[in-house]
Amino acid sequence: STVGLTCVPFSGGQPKGGVDDGPIEMIRFGILDQIEGMGYAIELSPGMDKYRTMRPASDPPLGRLKNPMYVSMAAQRVAEQVREHCAAGRMAVTLGGDHSIAMGTLVGSSDVYGDDLCVVWVDAHADINTPETTDSGNLHGCPLAYVLGICAETPQGDAPFGWIKPGCVRKDRLVYIGLRDVDSGEKMLLRKHNIKAFSMHDVDKHGIGRVVEMALDHVNPDRSLPVHMSFDVDALDPSVAPATGTPVRGGLTFREGHYICEAVAETGCLVAVDLVEVNPALGDPESLRQTVAVGCSLVRCSLGESLL
Ligand code: ARG
Ligand code: MN
Ligand code: MN
Ligand code: MN
Repeated sequence: STVGLTCVPFSGGQPKGGVDDGPIEMIRFGILDQIEGMGYAIELSPGMDKYRTMRPASDPPLGRLKNPMYVSMAAQRVAEQVREHCAAGRMAVTLGGDHSIAMGTLVGSSDVYGDDLCVVWVDAHADINTPETTDSGNLHGCPLAYVLGICAETPQGDAPFGWIKPGCVRKDRLVYIGLRDVDSGEKMLLRKHNIKAFSMHDVDKHGIGRVVEMALDHVNPDRSLPVHMSFDVDALDPSVAPATGTPVRGGLTFREGHYICEAVAETGCLVAVDLVEVNPALGDPESLRQTVAVGCSLVRCSLGESLL
C-alpha cells in the first residue's frame, strides 16, 4: 500500500520561526526510509518549497487574526494535496508546520470521506478558538472552529477561509485526547457544542488504554468509519518533546503518546495522520534530536509499526 506524504514547511499560524523546518528535519532523520522500510511506497506531494514562497506581500490582520491570507492560502493548498492522496486511496500523512495546516488536512480528507470522517485530535490545546474568542490571534489555535463551522460569521468567497465548507467535520465525530491548556472561551465552545474531550485528568484517572477505547467508542463505536488523527507533538510532556512552540507541563508520557498511535492504527480505520508543531529551532541540539525522533516514531506507530 501507499503513503501519500505531504510536507508543509509553514509557520504562519504562530509567531515563532523554525516550525517550518519540522518536515525537513524529519526527512533528515530518515522518515522516508523508515516508512519505505515498513513496506509502503511513498507518493510525495510536489512543490513543498511553495509553502514558503506563497506568503503574500501584504497581509494585514483580520480583526485579531494574524497572517490571515497566508494561512488561508497555505491551508487551501494542503487541502488539495491531501484530497488527492485520499481520493487515490492512499494513507495521507502530513508533516507540519504549525497546527493551522489542519484546516487543510481536514478539508482534504472530509472532501473524500464526507460525513463519515472521525477526527481524533491529540493535543495539549483545543485549537477551537473562533475569530471572536482568540486572545493571541494565532491561527494555529483556531483550525477546528473553521472546519466545524462555529465561527460567529462564516467566511465567504475570496475572503480568507471562504473556501472552507463549514461543518465539513461533524461536532459529534470529533474527540480530543491530552488537553490541559484550554482557554476559557474554548471551554465555553466545547460545552456549547457538546464536544467530547479527554483531558490529562482523564488519562490519570482511567489510564491511556481506557481513554483511547472511550474516545473511539464516542466517534466510531463499530470501528467501521474512517479516522483522521491530528497529533500535535505538544500533547507529549515537554520532557519528551521539548522542541515545540507552546509546551505545557503535565503531558503524555513517551509510551502514552505511542500507545494512542498504535491503538488507533490497530483499528484499521486510520486514513489520515498529521504530525505538527515540531520546532527544531527551539532548545539545544539534544532537545531537537529527541523531538524530531519522537515525531518520526509516532508516525511509524500510526502506520502500524508494532513492538513485537
Ligand atoms: N489557545 C492558545 C491560542 O489560541 C494556544 C494554541 C496553541 N496551539 C497549538 N497548535 N500549539 O493561542
Ligand atoms: Mn498544542
Ligand atoms: Mn493558554
Ligand atoms: Mn495544536
